Amino acid sequence: MTRAVILGTGSCLPERIMTNADLEKIVETSDSWIFSRTGISERRIAGPGEHIHKVAAQAARRALDAAQLTPADLDLIVLATVSPHMTMPSTACFVQAELEASNAFAYDISAACAGFTYGIDLASKYIYAQPDMKVLVIGAENLSTRLNWQDRNTCVLFGDGAGAAVLSGERGGDRGILGAKLSSDGKLWRLLYTEGAPSMNKDLQLPDWKGPFIQMNGSELFKNAVRLMEGAVKELLAQHQLAISDIDLMIPHQANIRIINNLKERLAVPEDKVFTNLNRYGNTSSASIPIALDEACREGRIRRGDLVLMCTFGAGLTWGALLLRW
Ligand SMILES: CC(C)(COP(=O)(O)OP(=O)(O)OC[C@H]1O[C@@H](n2cnc3c(N)ncnc32)[C@H](O)[C@@H]1OP(=O)(O)O)[C@@H](O)C(=O)NCCC(=O)NCCS
Repeated sequence: MTRAVILGTGSCLPERIMTNADLEKIVETSDSWIFSRTGISERRIAGPGEHIHKVAAQAARRALDAAQLTPADLDLIVLATVSPHMTMPSTACFVQAELEASNAFAYDISAACAGFTYGIDLASKYIYAQPDMKVLVIGAENLSTRLNWQDRNTCVLFGDGAGAAVLSGERGGDRGILGAKLSSDGKLWRLLYTEGAPSMNKDLQLPDWKGPFIQMNGSELFKNAVRLMEGAVKELLAQHQLAISDIDLMIPHQANIRIINNLKERLAVPEDKVFTNLNRYGNTSSASIPIALDEACREGRIRRGDLVLMCTFGAGLTWGALLLRW
């Protein structure tokens, strides 16, 4: 059997660090409120020249180096984002140009914070059909450009960054993407959305348009996030006849440490098997899992043969879990 294997990972964060103390000067908030409610201490904010495709391309170069491949080896670039540089062309095409990955076709996917996990699932299916394909999956966000910096409910939560993974097929053996349980519920779209510019179609304009910024119902999202990720993980493990004790490392979407702790308790995952870094980066949406995955690899938290579980949720709503043998 052929499975898609992650050959290398990379990440890139903008240089500028914005601390909770910096935010106290912008909105009425405090370091203690933000940290106690979310676990976030600081986040990265893209500065001039740190365009999303440049940060994404840098993460991609690091993933290619780790995989000992060059941009010319790539057949496909899938980039997940909800904060693209332009509506068209896709950010993936900008990255392709930046890398000079002239043999690859490239496109974006939009699944908010679940974007990278959806992208890995997509890549694994291309590779199942064509085992020699080299697929680059990127999660990249420039959410600081989508925040209302006067809205303390949202501007303290998010950050910018990118993470990437290169995959290809491996025949035989037990490594690779084992499976995924992905879901969506578009009826819950109002819990988290960015309308962007008002639609030119008047029928589609929201009567209460609040600008091209992230709008969020935090408490409802919180409850849904824990419940839905728990369900996805349990269903996926059952499908593969695995128990939570078989997992070597869980990489949850980095949105809120209280969501992660709730999930950890419900699933009974020990503390040392859960990877977190959101204290340093906040919620980077589709970039959160690939940045965490890359850091976990580089810190030696994932070894050959380990069973890794990703779980995610985001706007849409979209959510899911993915299992892989490293
Ligand atoms: C947003 C979130 C941190 C709020 O935490 P919470 O425990 O629900 O907040 P509380 O109910 O204790 O507090 C809400 C109060 O804090 C205030 N508040 C909101 N943001 C604040 C801030 N940055 N600083 C200080 N006060 C703030 C609100 O105005 C509200 O005040 P009120 O009660 O006077 O109306 C939490 O709901 C959350 O993280 N939800 C999930 C969000 C998420 O993950 N989104 C991305 C999904 S991918």
